[in-house]
Amino acid sequence: MAEVAVFASGSGSNFEAIVTSLAKTEHSVCCLVCDRHEAPVFERAKRLGIPAYHVSYFRRSRVEAEQEIIDKLGAHRPSYIALAGFMRILSPFFVDTFPHKIVNIHPALLPAHPGAHGLQESYLSDDEQLGITIHYVDHGTDTGPIIRRQSIHRNSGETLETAERRIHSLEHHLYPDVICSLLDAYEKQQEAG
Ligand code: GRF
Repeated sequence: MAEVAVFASGSGSNFEAIVTSLAKTEHSVCCLVCDRHEAPVFERAKRLGIPAYHVSYFRRSRVEAEQEIIDKLGAHRPSYIALAGFMRILSPFFVDTFPHKIVNIHPALLPAHPGAHGLQESYLSDDEQLGITIHYVDHGTDTGPIIRRQSIHRNSGETLETAERRIHSLEHHLYPDVICSLLDAYEKQQEAG
């Protein structure tokens, strides 16, 4: 059994999908880390019985906040960290503390449309396809090595809201799947010594 810590800042629909999906496997989510104390994801964590930590970035340096996150994670020692709508850029210090162990989901087909507005920008672009990307986190913004990408066709006349719904439901299937495979591989590697 291996564990993943999930970082989120908002609604947390991906967080919930990861928790419920991993509950059907031998793996699990050990905790939630969130930088916004009023974020709806806390309600989900409570309902699902997952330990949740609010780590404030207010009036402190990013590295101070990240040091607190590292301290909190010390109690859990997760094998992976999965960013799921975490709206903070992690510092090189943090990323290097967990080398090749931090993954992110992005609602566009990287390397196109990186950044906080990837979904909207891809919707407004001339691209024929929309989609999602799961990738390792490196020192850049949405630049790390790609693990999985999945595209979907645009539906003619589709609104941004409808496209967003389809993207989210794709995320809710693919992200838990990829995380489960990473945890499986991690465990095999541990067993092999
Ligand atoms: C998702 O679309 C994800 O791709 C992006 O942030 C959104 C988070 O949504 N990084 P939710 O909080 O999981 O509902």
